[in-house]
Amino acid sequence: MMNTSDIVALREDDGEFSELKTIIKRKIGFNCEQYKQAHLKRRLAVRLRATQSKSYKEYAELLSKNLAEEKQLKETLTVNVTELFRNPETYEAVRATVLPELIKSRGENRNLKIWSAGCSNGEEPYSIAIMLAEYLGMSAKRYNISIMGTDIDEDSLNKAGLGIFHQKQLEKISKERLARFFNKKDDNYQVTDEIRRLVTIKNHDLISGPKLSGFDIIFCRNVTIYFEQKLQEKLYFDFYNALKDGGYFVMGKTETLVGPSCKLFKHVDLKERIYQKKEN
Ligand SMILES: C[S@@+](CC[C@H](N)C(=O)[O-])C[C@H]1O[C@@H](n2cnc3c(N)ncnc32)[C@H](O)[C@@H]1O
Repeated sequence: MMNTSDIVALREDDGEFSELKTIIKRKIGFNCEQYKQAHLKRRLAVRLRATQSKSYKEYAELLSKNLAEEKQLKETLTVNVTELFRNPETYEAVRATVLPELIKSRGENRNLKIWSAGCSNGEEPYSIAIMLAEYLGMSAKRYNISIMGTDIDEDSLNKAGLGIFHQKQLEKISKERLARFFNKKDDNYQVTDEIRRLVTIKNHDLISGPKLSGFDIIFCRNVTIYFEQKLQEKLYFDFYNALKDGGYFVMGKTETLVGPSCKLFKHVDLKERIYQKKEN
């Protein structure tokens, strides 16, 4: 527990803030300018408090010579909160509305390519894989399914690659799902090989990474809320270009299309933030 006497008064200075952002970009490759500045300051304040730094300058000096702090800062800046089947009603809507249409429209083409952008520890791509395995049942074998989970946080990516979850993270998972898609490993559970095989985890920065393409569905949920509006607009254009014709885009429940990107998609389920690429 922290006493009030432990809280160091922060001296905020715009010049020092700018300099710190440059150092952060150089050291850990995190594009500070593109994130909402209030969010950035709140996250930085966590590390300044933890290191008892009184100013951005003092923290910048510490960061420049402390490798462990680089790692801590990156973890603090990337908010990794997630869960398996987060907002189950959204998955239900995708299963009931998107999958039947998508499968029907693809006909004999049995390639399904899905992107979970900002996948954190893997809960989202594995939930998508489980949803597809359940939906397709025995015919899943006849499909070439690829679910790509991407993120910039190395720790998250390592966890995502393993697909191991603690019992506590599985409390909301039904007994049937647990038995069918997870193997017990000591106190933890690992997703079965059948599910892991469908998922590839990669490091990819949505801001500066290469443009991707050819997806049937893109999930980008609870990632862009931290981005400045101009960047949100740009990313929604990127997602539009990354989708195949008639592909679907699923956002987080507190996120909305902004600016000109509103015209690129039609609503499939407004409440669950499911959109479809408009024909051009
Ligand atoms: C709150 S989690 C969302 C996880 C999952 N999509 C969900 O809705 O549960 C946000 C994730 O976005 C990632 N992220 C932040 N900036 C990113 C960027 N520029 N490129 C890729 N991922 C990013 C963070 O590392 C974090 O894991």
